[in-house]
Amino acid sequence: MKNLFFCAAVLFGLVSADYHPRILKGDLEKIRRGELIPSVFPENFAPTTELRVSYVNRQMRFGTEYFPYRNETDNIPVIKYKTERNAFYTIALVDPDAPSRADPYRAQVRHWLNVNIPGDRIDKGNSTGTPYLRPAPFAGCGRKRFVYVLAKQECYMPNLTVPQARPNFNVTEFCAQNRMKIIGGNYFEVESEPGPTCTIPGSNPTTSTSRPITTTTVYPITTISRRIYY
Ligand SMILES: *[C@@H]1O[C@H](CO)[C@@H](O)[C@H](O)[C@H]1NC(C)=O
Ligand SMILES: *[C@@H]1O[C@H](CO)[C@@H](O)[C@H](O)[C@H]1NC(C)=O
Ligand SMILES: *[C@@H]1O[C@H](CO)[C@@H](O)[C@H](O)[C@H]1NC(C)=O
Ligand SMILES: *[C@@H]1O[C@H](CO)[C@@H](O)[C@H](O)[C@H]1NC(C)=O
Repeated sequence: MKNLFFCAAVLFGLVSADYHPRILKGDLEKIRRGELIPSVFPENFAPTTELRVSYVNRQMRFGTEYFPYRNETDNIPVIKYKTERNAFYTIALVDPDAPSRADPYRAQVRHWLNVNIPGDRIDKGNSTGTPYLRPAPFAGCGRKRFVYVLAKQECYMPNLTVPQARPNFNVTEFCAQNRMKIIGGNYFEVESEPGPTCTIPGSNPTTSTSRPITTTTVYPITTISRRIYY
C-alpha cells in the first residue's frame, strides 16, 4: 500500500511536469538492424535515452566487438545515461543467443540485472542476487550478441521478485510486470572459439530439442519496507 502511494506521488510529479522526451530514431534503427526487436526489446520500443557503455575504454556502438578471451568484458563496464531527478532505473545485460544465435533455446540468459539504481549511480543499485556474469561463449557457438537494456522505474521498488535461474529470462516481460519503461539500449558482439558443435559443457549434446524448465523460485530483493517521508 505504502509502495503504491509512493509510486502515485512520483507519477503525479511526472505528469504535472508534462515531460515528452524525443525518440532517438537512430538508436531504434540500429537496434532494429541488430534484429533485437522483438527478441529483446518490445515491438513498440521507443528509445528516448542514449545508453553509453564502454568496456576497456572502447565505446560500445550497437554491435561493437569485444574479446571475452582477452578479458575485455570481465568487469562491469562504464555506463552513462541522462537521468531525471529523483528517478530510479534498472539495467539488464541479457544474452538472446544462448547458447547460439542459430538455436537460442536458453534465451535470454540474464547476465546481470541491477535494479533500484538512483540516477546513474550503478554501484548503488541492487543486483538481485545474480551479480554480473561475464560473457563466456562456449566453443563452437558462433557469433553472439549481448544486449544492455535501460529501463526507468515508476518508483523505488523494495519488493521486486526475480526468478533465481539465469536462463529463459524475458526482460520485456519483467519490465512490463513491474511497470518499468524500457528507454534505452545498446549491444555488443563476441565471437566464440571455433569448435565442431555448440555444446554446453556438462550437458547432453542432444538436449537442444527439449526446453529446460524455468524454476519458479523467486528472489525477493528485499522485504524491508523503506520509511517514506512526504
Ligand atoms: C585473463 O585473466 C586471467 C585470470 O586473471 C589470466 O590468467 C589471463 O592471463 C588473462 N588473459 C589475458 C589475455 O590477459
Ligand atoms: C517476452 O515477453 C513479451 C511480453 O510478454 C512477449 O511479447 C515476447 O514475445 C516475449 N519474448 C520472447 C523472446 O519470448
Ligand atoms: C539487495 O537485496 C538484498 C536481498 O534482500 C538485500 O539483502 C540487500 O541489502 C539489498 N542491497 C541493496 C544495495 O539494496
Ligand atoms: C514489502 O513486503 C513486505 C512483506 O510482504 C511488507 O511487509 C512491506 O510492507 C512491503 N513494503 C512495501 C513498501 O510495500
